Amino acid sequence: MNGPDHPFPAPLLERLRAAQKIAVLTGAGVSQESGLRTFRDPQEGFWAQYSPEDLATPEAFERDPRLVWEWYAHRRSQLASVHPNPAHRALTELGNRLPGLTLITQNVDGLHQRAGSRDVIELHGTLTEVRCSACGQRPKEWNDHPRVVPACPDCGGLLRPDVVWFGEILPQGALAAAMEAARTCDAFFSIGTSGLVEPAASLGRTVRQRNGVLIEINREPTPLTPLCDYAFHGKAGDWLPRLVDAVFGSGL
Ligand code: APR
Repeated sequence: MNGPDHPFPAPLLERLRAAQKIAVLTGAGVSQESGLRTFRDPQEGFWAQYSPEDLATPEAFERDPRLVWEWYAHRRSQLASVHPNPAHRALTELGNRLPGLTLITQNVDGLHQRAGSRDVIELHGTLTEVRCSACGQRPKEWNDHPRVVPACPDCGGLLRPDVVWFGEILPQGALAAAMEAARTCDAFFSIGTSGLVEPAASLGRTVRQRNGVLIEINREPTPLTPLCDYAFHGKAGDWLPRLVDAVFGSGL
């Protein structure tokens, strides 16, 4: 036997096996292998002329609600044809084996939940729900026409995607839970995120300031990489199943 058939250092595996609490922060890179573009990838087709920063803002919605609504309707329509990938499934497996796992995501695509992960902390909201831009109500049903901004059934205001736009505050409960996880975890994974957007990007630094183990899994280095105890660069869908298998021998 010429040693383990995985590249993970034994001290890392030991720390993960002994961990009572593990926190995971994911970004768009975790959904990339499902076929969803990341934020820093160029947009496609009609939407290539816009950058997310042009559309994902309250000002953009104020200026042209129908354009913003159409972009989110386009992104929501993509969800019907994509599925969780091995990265999502490996994180669900990790959560099944580690009751102390907290899964925090910046993604709004709901793919973690579709992979079976429970209690997902959605820092930036979700594409799958809407809220009224005037009264804040979250209707469960709405007229989901891609080119017509629906009206709130309660007050008649314009409905908007229930996501966090640039410049908006995050859902306070979700942020508090994510910060608590970063403060108390034995190990923290930053997976598929460029680490450019606050306050999510500060979670990894919080772990660094304690003696938590900081691990990055990302296609390329990020500003967090130099702070990490371990950094595995490449596809999350390749690394994560191998890591879970190495830690638990789950035969993924
Ligand atoms: N496996 C691992 N990492 C990947 C993969 C993959 N298959 N594909 C892409 N990546 C990496 C990219 O290298 C990049 O570093 O995922 C990261 C995605 O970064 P961003 O596109 O910036 O997405 P994210 O970090 O989630 O953005 C954070 O910014 O635009 C706002 O609110 C939006 O939630 C989003 C936030």
